[in-house]
Amino acid sequence: MALDRHLSALTIIMAKCMSTCNRKKSSVFVSAIEIEKAIDSMADAICNDYKNKKLVLIGVLKGSFIFLADLVRKLDIDAEIDFIGLSSYGSDRVSSGTVTLYFEPRIEIMGRDVLLVEDIIDSGLSTTYAIGYLKSKGAKSVRLCSLLDKKSRRETEVTIDYSGFTAPDGFLVGYGLDCDEHYRNLNNIIILGEE
Ligand code: IMP
Ligand code: MG
Repeated sequence: MALDRHLSALTIIMAKCMSTCNRKKSSVFVSAIEIEKAIDSMADAICNDYKNKKLVLIGVLKGSFIFLADLVRKLDIDAEIDFIGLSSYGSDRVSSGTVTLYFEPRIEIMGRDVLLVEDIIDSGLSTTYAIGYLKSKGAKSVRLCSLLDKKSRRETEVTIDYSGFTAPDGFLVGYGLDCDEHYRNLNNIIILGEE
């Protein structure tokens, strides 16, 4: 029932949104409950691997902000949190292919065990950029956690240490993911259909 209520809310929100992201045939790809279960198992694995370490989590803005907030509250180890701001998309659904750094973490990265937290890995270009950045700042180790993995779209090899779901080659929104800044506030992850 909660899902039905959410879908009607989604229909209303989508009807109000007149951007190019407005698509009629949209469906739930993963529900809030499935997301929570996936986060539980990722958090267990992270706690196990970092229990004797001083972990620094770096969330990639803006898409990871909800995932990171839920993930850190499931960790029962000490963890510092900061963000890196990267953009590769313009105002539509196609990556520009050029990664721009617009926000740098303030936490000292030198000598630290860093876990990069992403919403979704698509081409892999943003992640490769972020890992390069963290290594250039002297990180002792850099691992990667991503809620979604759009494997079929990879342009460069990326190893995901903690992964939630394999995503289809469609455009996903909700739970932090946006289309032209819309839909980040949805509880479920929705796949946008064609017009
Ligand atoms: P990449 O550099 O091509 O791997 O793109 C990574 C970034 O693009 C992600 O962190 C997202 O912010 C964004 N992105 C890729 N696919 C999607 C999608 O389906 N929906 C929303 N954002 C996406
Ligand atoms: Mg992102």
